[in-house]
Amino acid sequence: MAEKIKKIPTHIAIIMDGNGRWATRRGLPRNVGHREGVKAIERTVLACLKFGIKYCTFFAFSTENWKRSKEEINGIFDLIRDYIKKEDNIFEKYQIKLSSIGYLEPFPDDLKSALADMKEKTKNYDRMQVTLALNYGGRDDIVRAVNSLIKQGNNNITEKDLLDQLDTKNIPEPDFVLRTSGEMRISNFMLYQMAYSELYFPKVLWPDFNEKHLYKALKVYQKRNRRYGGLS
Ligand code: FPP
Repeated sequence: MAEKIKKIPTHIAIIMDGNGRWATRRGLPRNVGHREGVKAIERTVLACLKFGIKYCTFFAFSTENWKRSKEEINGIFDLIRDYIKKEDNIFEKYQIKLSSIGYLEPFPDDLKSALADMKEKTKNYDRMQVTLALNYGGRDDIVRAVNSLIKQGNNNITEKDLLDQLDTKNIPEPDFVLRTSGEMRISNFMLYQMAYSELYFPKVLWPDFNEKHLYKALKVYQKRNRRYGGLS
């Protein structure tokens, strides 16, 4: 990783795919894959700090993930809870602001309060912002935003009105969206916000993702010519 990266995306968003396959290939329960996935989150946040990436969003639980077994869902909740309650958490250690997107209401109360606690503790940090997408769906985000615009009495809205109402209102749109494991889908992630994002689908399974993979991804991003519909 000798060569310096010139064009650093402000916001990268990651669809962490392949935890289940990682575990199954080793004859282990799927939740072991998710547990290793948390370690990959930690590595990635530290690598983002190193490369100077300001915003990183992780798709941790989608509106569709409720279809999984109770055991797997509870396992994921335990991991999220443990991670944000950890004594030696990276948020306080490195002054990282924690935020979330998604409809939190159906989550267990103790998870919600642990999340609220860590958000409160880190709300003034500005070195980097990590966002967890929890019970997040791009369509659900848009529908909730439209419903609140209707409730406010609007009957004619602009793109900006909608952007200002989405869960991501305080975060820039993602410049670079990665999905690991080689699957080439966006699976109801930030649909509206991804209109001009660069997409990248490395083959590595999420639990194996590390700083070298992020570096390689950033090298790919260097070569992208973002035109936003204009001419270069
Ligand atoms: C996708 O892999 C991964 C998920 C649906 C869950 C990701 C959750 C975590 C990494 C834990 C969250 C914890 C924190 C701290 C935010 P998959 O299970 O769909 O993999 P597969 O396609 O190989 O089955």
